[in-house]
Amino acid sequence: MSLREILIHPDDRLREIAKPVAFPLSDEVKQTIQDMADTMYDAPGVGLAATQIGVALQIAVTDTEWRKEEVRHDGEPIGSRNLKVWINPEFTWKSDEMETWEEGCLSVPEVYGDVSRPAAVRLRWQDMEGDTHEKDFDGFEAVALQHEFDHLIGKLFIDYLSPLKRAMITKKMKKLYKS
Ligand code: NI
Repeated sequence: MSLREILIHPDDRLREIAKPVAFPLSDEVKQTIQDMADTMYDAPGVGLAATQIGVALQIAVTDTEWRKEEVRHDGEPIGSRNLKVWINPEFTWKSDEMETWEEGCLSVPEVYGDVSRPAAVRLRWQDMEGDTHEKDFDGFEAVALQHEFDHLIGKLFIDYLSPLKRAMITKKMKKLYKS
C-alpha cells in the first residue's frame, strides 16, 4: 500500500486541467489508481481525484457507500467497500432541478459549505479495461461525482461559495498548512 500526499488548497496544482487517459493503461497509471484508492480510504474520504495528488489525468475514485463514522474497533469500516474507478468521465446530461448538499473536500480540510448542483446527471466514462459506460445518477452519488470531476477541471467546491467566505477559507488554510 502506498499513500500519496493530498494537495491542500491553495496549491496551484489543484487548478490544473486534467488530460484524457490513453488505453491500455500503463503500469504507472494502474499504480496511480491503486494509490488513489489507498489514499482515499486512509484519509478517510468518499472520493479522490487524480488532480488532488498532483497527477493531471482524468481519473477519480469514489466509494459513496463506505462511511467513515461506522468503524469497527480496529478502525476498519463496517460493511464492504465498493470502490468505483472513473476514467475520462463526461456528463452528457444534467437535470434542471437543483439540490443543495453540504460538501467538504480532502484538499480543504475541515471546511464545509452548502453547494447547489443539478440533482441528477447522466455520465459517460471508461473503466480500467477501456470499456465505455453511460448511466444516470442522483442523490449523494450525483453530488460526489460532480464534486470529483470538478477537480479534473481545476475547480473546488469553495469556488461556489461567496468571495468573502472563500477568502476566509483560503486565509485559514494558508495559516494551518503553511509549507
Ligand atoms: Ni474534493
